[in-house]
Amino acid sequence: MDKYTFWEIFKLENSVFETEKEQELAAQFGYAERVRELVSAKYTHKPLAFVHTYGCQQNVSDSEHLKGYLEMMGYGFTDELNEADLVLYNTCAVREHAQTRVFGNVGILKANKRQRPGMLICMCGCMAQQESVAAKIKKSYPYVDILFGTQVRHRFPEFVYRKMTTGKRVFENPADDSGIFEGIPVHRDGTFKAWLPIMQGCNNFCTYCIVPYVRGREYSREPEDVIAEAREIIKGGAKEIMLLGQNVNSYGKNCKHKMTFAELLREINAIEGDFRIRFMTSHPKDCSEELLKAMAECEKVEKHLHLPVQCGSSRVLEKMNRRYTAEHYMGLIEKAKSLMPELQLTSDIIVGFPGETEEDFRETLELIKKVRYYSLFTFIFSPRPGTPAEKMPDPESKADKSRRFAELLAVQEEISRGLNEQVIGRTVRLLIEETDGDVLVGRSSENLVVRVKGDGALLGNFVNAKITEFDGVLHGNII
Ligand code: SAH
Ligand code: SF4
Ligand code: F3S
Repeated sequence: MDKYTFWEIFKLENSVFETEKEQELAAQFGYAERVRELVSAKYTHKPLAFVHTYGCQQNVSDSEHLKGYLEMMGYGFTDELNEADLVLYNTCAVREHAQTRVFGNVGILKANKRQRPGMLICMCGCMAQQESVAAKIKKSYPYVDILFGTQVRHRFPEFVYRKMTTGKRVFENPADDSGIFEGIPVHRDGTFKAWLPIMQGCNNFCTYCIVPYVRGREYSREPEDVIAEAREIIKGGAKEIMLLGQNVNSYGKNCKHKMTFAELLREINAIEGDFRIRFMTSHPKDCSEELLKAMAECEKVEKHLHLPVQCGSSRVLEKMNRRYTAEHYMGLIEKAKSLMPELQLTSDIIVGFPGETEEDFRETLELIKKVRYYSLFTFIFSPRPGTPAEKMPDPESKADKSRRFAELLAVQEEISRGLNEQVIGRTVRLLIEETDGDVLVGRSSENLVVRVKGDGALLGNFVNAKITEFDGVLHGNII
């Protein structure tokens, strides 16, 4: 099929584009309009899309853009699978378990499709980018209509259009490393919290990790685009911006206008308004003193640092290709704590990396006790196809890994309890994120989650509260 129909060629010829990307997006907007016409002719009701996102915040943010496209194509949204006219699963491949869950949930869709044969089933994201997954879906899940990878997600309207006009299944997951597409519409899920991707992809190739393979090379958005979007978000009333990237500390490397992540933080901090800035994720190898200083000096930047260490043994860190040692990491933590006494730290830990010995694991426990993380995201190593670690000898038994994992959790629970008890009596500024009757759940700049009594109308607002108690969760009073 020709890439552009007569209608799009007409539109393209009558427009002026500075770049190929602008031209590509204009073509996609053309497809979106055609789909809109097709669905309005097909349905007597407004068609509804059920979008489910697995994995990290990057995926959540991508889904907001895919939802932007869906809106453009004339769809509304539903949380009920059985009333959906289109289902979109945005998937994650980071661990085996994540993938198994998706296959299970896609399997369930067979029954939904039988009940609603017109339902369009689409699958995208990091799993879809893998050839082996695409082949399995093609062969064993014939009711999946459209599958597309992360690197062509800007072409979603074209895929829907193709399926609707040809009736043929669409499978598109090429390695398309053409960089960032600015201007894809966005449907923001939150009203007072907003995701703001500042970069995409990853160049680090940690030996256990599939992300660089499924997300492609690292590209940063131009600072002016990021700052303009931040302004727009604040103008729209948001109270919190979460800056997203797999390694925000290496921000700006490919930009025409050079800017470090620390400088970007300062720029966004200078935007007028009462809001908070968060960011995810920082890689210790690129975590600079300049960044820690910017965090300390910018009043809107959270005093919480998620700095994944993965492991406390320098020997294992080297095998993981993390490119820092445990000593270097501890140096960063000491620096950060000295600049920000109120700082809370969190981290990711992998237990049972191939060749991890009992002694390596003890070093991880020691590091955790020294740092005193507020909380941890803990994972048992999961071999990922095509990564170097998949082929490393892994003599340790599953039972040993599980025992280490349980020990790690117990040690961390003790530390978390200690830190929670330590903040009793402290006054914090909470952004109220949830309400449950007259109980409000707020989050502080240090990432402390505190329950307070108050009016539900405070949702999405800042309140000052004094922390009074810890009984597994923190409680406080609004002051
Ligand atoms: N870019 C982020 C992490 C993204 S993946 C960073 O570098 O910090 C989130 C976490 O999943 C990682 O930090 C790691 O702890 C975990 N993870 C990634 N691959 C894994 C694997 N194969 N097995 C177990 N855990 C894994
Ligand atoms: Fe994966 Fe490492 Fe990149 Fe994080 S930095 S996404 S762990 S390769
Ligand atoms: Fe998963 Fe892809 Fe994120 S593999 S963790 S959704 S980048």
